[in-house]
Amino acid sequence: MKTAIYPGSFDPITNGHLDIIKRASELFDRVIVAVIKNPSKKSQFSLADRVEMIKKCVPGVIVESFDGLLVEYARQKGAKTIVRGLRAVSDFDYEFQMALTNRKMAPTIETIFLMTDYRYSYLSSSFVKQIAALGGDVSELVPAPVAKKLKKRGE
Ligand code: PNS
Repeated sequence: MKTAIYPGSFDPITNGHLDIIKRASELFDRVIVAVIKNPSKKSQFSLADRVEMIKKCVPGVIVESFDGLLVEYARQKGAKTIVRGLRAVSDFDYEFQMALTNRKMAPTIETIFLMTDYRYSYLSSSFVKQIAALGGDVSELVPAPVAKKLKKRGE
């Protein structure tokens, strides 16, 4: 059973994340979407909300939360692969550093990158939040349950 972990803050999940989850699910027997409890940047949505939104958007996918080192969590889950999505070159530095740091700590765990679909290459959770907060339409950027939740927040 090949298990992959797809970690992130998912604050909130976007169509770009969703695309990566679907594509990773084609490659692995089991994909665990792992939502970090305390992201380095302050999250707008609570952990419970972030997890719930993902569960609503991708029924059937395992969604969990984790705390502490990602590689420790991956080990606990018996996962040898961490999946990350890569958008523009600007993602590269951070992702490269993170992948090498994780490899240093856990040489048997591999990080693989899925290139974003061109439709989502500009998309980020931060911009989605900003647009929604300013009354803009995010319905084509995020799954319907997330758009609904963002709209509710703005009311
Ligand atoms: O969606 P994000 O915010 O880019 O996800 C970042 C995440 C959660 C993957 C990263 O911050 C992480 O793995 N944090 C856990 C702590 C850890 O293992 N740090 C060492 C590796 S840099």
